[in-house]
Amino acid sequence: MWTTRATELASSRCKRSFGRRASLFTDPYAMTLPGSPHIAYRDRELFIDACSLRELAARFGTPLYVYSRTAMLEALSGYQRALAGRDHLICYAMKANSNLAVLQTFAEAGCGFDIVSGGELERVLAAGGDAARVVFSGLGKTRAEMQQALLAGVMCFNVESEAELEVLSQVAVQTGKTARISLRVNPDVDAKTHPYISTGLKGNKFGVAHERAVATYLRAATLPGLQVVGIDCHIGSQITEADPYLDALDRLLELIETVEARGVPVPHLDLGGGLGITYTDEVPPAAEVLVSALLARIDARGHGHRKILFEPGRSLVGNAGVLLTEVLYLKPGDTKNFCVVDAAMNDLMRPAMYGAYMGMAACRLRDDEPTLMDVVGPVCESGDWLGRDRRLAVLPGDVIAVLSAGAYGMSMASNYNTRPRAAEVMVSGDQAWLIREREQPAALFANERLLAR
Ligand code: LLP
Repeated sequence: MWTTRATELASSRCKRSFGRRASLFTDPYAMTLPGSPHIAYRDRELFIDACSLRELAARFGTPLYVYSRTAMLEALSGYQRALAGRDHLICYAMKANSNLAVLQTFAEAGCGFDIVSGGELERVLAAGGDAARVVFSGLGKTRAEMQQALLAGVMCFNVESEAELEVLSQVAVQTGKTARISLRVNPDVDAKTHPYISTGLKGNKFGVAHERAVATYLRAATLPGLQVVGIDCHIGSQITEADPYLDALDRLLELIETVEARGVPVPHLDLGGGLGITYTDEVPPAAEVLVSALLARIDARGHGHRKILFEPGRSLVGNAGVLLTEVLYLKPGDTKNFCVVDAAMNDLMRPAMYGAYMGMAACRLRDDEPTLMDVVGPVCESGDWLGRDRRLAVLPGDVIAVLSAGAYGMSMASNYNTRPRAAEVMVSGDQAWLIREREQPAALFANERLLAR
C-alpha cells in the first residue's frame, strides 16, 4: 500500500465502473473514487459534496486543501455508534489535521483531543475545545508543557517513560496540581504497517516496555502529585487489520488485572488510534466493526465497566480531504514523462517521506488518451514527487485532485523553498468556507532579522 500501484484512479475517458454508486447510475460518467463517497464525478466534473473542485480551485487558488465536513462527521459517527451507551471519549488525534475549523467541528460533535505539544493545546483552546477532554501524549514533553497542561486542567497525561513520570511528579508538586496519568504501554505487537509509523514493537522509541509496566505503575502510585487514571497504547498508523488491535488489547487487559491485583486501580482503557483508510485498494475494517469487536472482547473479559478511549486521527479526516493542484507544464521525455504541478513535497510530504501512494484524479475528464507520467512539484529535489507512473489526461491549466489528503497533509506541510503554505477550505453541501488563508511570502520571513551594521 505504500509503494506506487499500477492501479490508476482516474484517467481522461475513465468510464470504468469502479466504485460506482447506485444513486449516480443515471449519469454515465458518475463514479465515486476509492476512499470517499463524498468525492465523485458528476457529468465529467469532480465534486466534493455539492461543490465543483474546479470551481473551488478557481475561486481560492491552488495549491488548495479542501475538506468535506459531512465526510468527517460521517467517519466519526462509526466510532460513536459503536460506543453509544457506554462511558467513553473519542479523542481526535489532531496531529492528523489541526486546522481550527476541523477542531471546532469535532469539539462540537462531542470529541475530546489527543495532543502532543503545548502548541496543540493552545489550538484546542482557540477552537473552543475543553482541556478537561484532552489527553496529552508524546514521549518528550518538556517541563514547560507539563505545567501549561496542568494549569489548563487536561484530563490525562499519557506518560511514556519512567523518567518522564519522575519529572511530571516534580512539576505537579511545584505547580500545586495533581497530574492524572495513564501509562502508554508498548505491547510489543506487530501492527503490520510501514516501519516509520509502526509504534508498538519493542524496538520503537515509544511507550513503557510491557515488562516494565507493572513496576512503573507501582512507582507511579507512590509518587506525589500523580494519580493513576488509566492505561493506553498506540501500536501504529494506517493499520488495516483488526488482529493487531485485539492482540494489544489482550496484553493491556492482562496488565490491568495484574496492576489492580497489586492495589492500584486503573479505571480507563485507551486503545489509541491507527485505523487505516483507503488510499488505493486497502480494505481496512470499518471503525464501527473494529470498535465493536474490541468492545465485545473487553466485555467478554469482564472489563465492560471501564471508560473506553480512542485516539483516531487519519480515519476521521483522511478520506474527507483532497489537495488541489494546477498543472503547470507537461515535459515529455525519452524515458519518462513529467507533469509539473504547482503543489510540491512541502505541501504534501507523504510521498517523499514514506514513498506513500496518494490517489490522483483530474478534476475534469477529457477525451484525450491518458499518458503515463510522474506528477512532480517545483521543489529542487528529485524526491519532490506526488505520484509516479500515473495515467492522466491533463493539459496545463487543468486541476488535479490528490485524494485522501485530509490527514497528514497540511499538518505536515513546510515552507521549504520559501513556498507559502496552501489555503484550506471546508465544504458542507454546496457551501464553502475559507478556513485558512494562503500564506504570504513576506510573512514567512517576518520573524527574521538582518545583522545590525
Ligand atoms: N495516538 C498517538 C499516540 C499517535 O502517535 C498517533 C499518530 C495517533 C493517536 C493517531 O494515529 P492515526 O489514527 O492517525 O493513525 N505522518 C504519518 C502518520 C504518523 C502517525 C503518528 N501518530 C503519515 O502520514 O502516515
